[in-house]
Amino acid sequence: MSQSPYIKIFIPGPVDVRSEILAAQTRPMIGHRSPEYAELQGRIIPRLRPIFGTAGRVFVVTASGSGLQEAAVRNCVRERCLSLVNGAFSQRWYEMVLANGKQGDALEVPPGQAIHPEQVDEKLRSGRYDAVTVVYNETSTGVFNPVPEIAAVVRNHPDVLLLVDAVSCAGGVEIKADEWGLDVCLTSSQKALALPPGLALCSVSDRAMERAKSIPHRGWYFDFLQYEKYAAKNHTPATPAISLMYALDAQLDSIAAEGWQNRFARHKQLMNLVHEWVREAGFDFFAEEGYRSPTVTCVTNTRGIDVAALNAFLRQRYMLISNGYGNLKDKTFRIAHMGDTTVEEIKALLDAINAFLKGQ
Ligand SMILES: Cc1ncc(COP(=O)(O)O)c(C=O)c1O
Repeated sequence: MSQSPYIKIFIPGPVDVRSEILAAQTRPMIGHRSPEYAELQGRIIPRLRPIFGTAGRVFVVTASGSGLQEAAVRNCVRERCLSLVNGAFSQRWYEMVLANGKQGDALEVPPGQAIHPEQVDEKLRSGRYDAVTVVYNETSTGVFNPVPEIAAVVRNHPDVLLLVDAVSCAGGVEIKADEWGLDVCLTSSQKALALPPGLALCSVSDRAMERAKSIPHRGWYFDFLQYEKYAAKNHTPATPAISLMYALDAQLDSIAAEGWQNRFARHKQLMNLVHEWVREAGFDFFAEEGYRSPTVTCVTNTRGIDVAALNAFLRQRYMLISNGYGNLKDKTFRIAHMGDTTVEEIKALLDAINAFLKGQ
């Protein structure tokens, strides 16, 4: 079988995975009820807490992040959910609420704009909702919603749970689930944690667990109570993706060596470099000022460049960026600056894009 050449992908997931982490997946298989597996999971779980900023429970499930979005709905929405919608992934979470037989309303603002806490407060004052879904980092638009401020508003409504999708920012930005009062905060392995796809991780508050106990049909695969029961023995209810757990174990060693705060600072530095480039190159930002993502920049294609031609040019240099999402294709393009990406790699990418622009 011929191997395709190594292309460094600067797309907002899956992201590039370093070869040591890929190699960690090739360790020999072990039984998932063996002491070796329990030791592996037992070693991993406590080291995941800094991702979410929690001293409490963290679950790892074999699924992509969408699985945990569905889990959050099934375990935590009693009757009616308010979904904050400002892009494709938040819209999808709203649709999941309805697809799971729950009632829901969308608080929708145009893509590119952030959801503001006062808008949420106004809706919650109706007393109709028992949960809120919010996407922290809207990957489709590059908007970074003000989750700490939204959480402060939600916490004024004691019966309302706050479910947070941090899929494309957790691991690249500091999250304080306990301090802010996030009831579920979830992410996928293939984004800022720089792992292959296939694992989803979340923190779950005591309040959320209590809610789950009161909900009769939570399903089986994503039942938080089952996860909690098996977690006591460092097991999972069903067979976990053991190879991915090996990769996660190795990646947590690398992250410990870098240090979480250094990792967050590096993400900020990468964002600043890309922002500087956007301004200098004469493009614009799709996301409103003050709410721009630390992990992915959605660039408004004000110069009307041929994004496919840019990517063909980049591919010859073994790099790739992402076109706009859905109907934002060609009107925008996206540069991911997350995971293990270095300053040198981002600079090399921006130099290559400049070389393309020079030829225009
Ligand atoms: C913000 C956001 N939420 C949810 C998802 C879905 O995650 P997954 O593809 O891991 O199921 C994505 C995927 O890109 C995302 O960016």
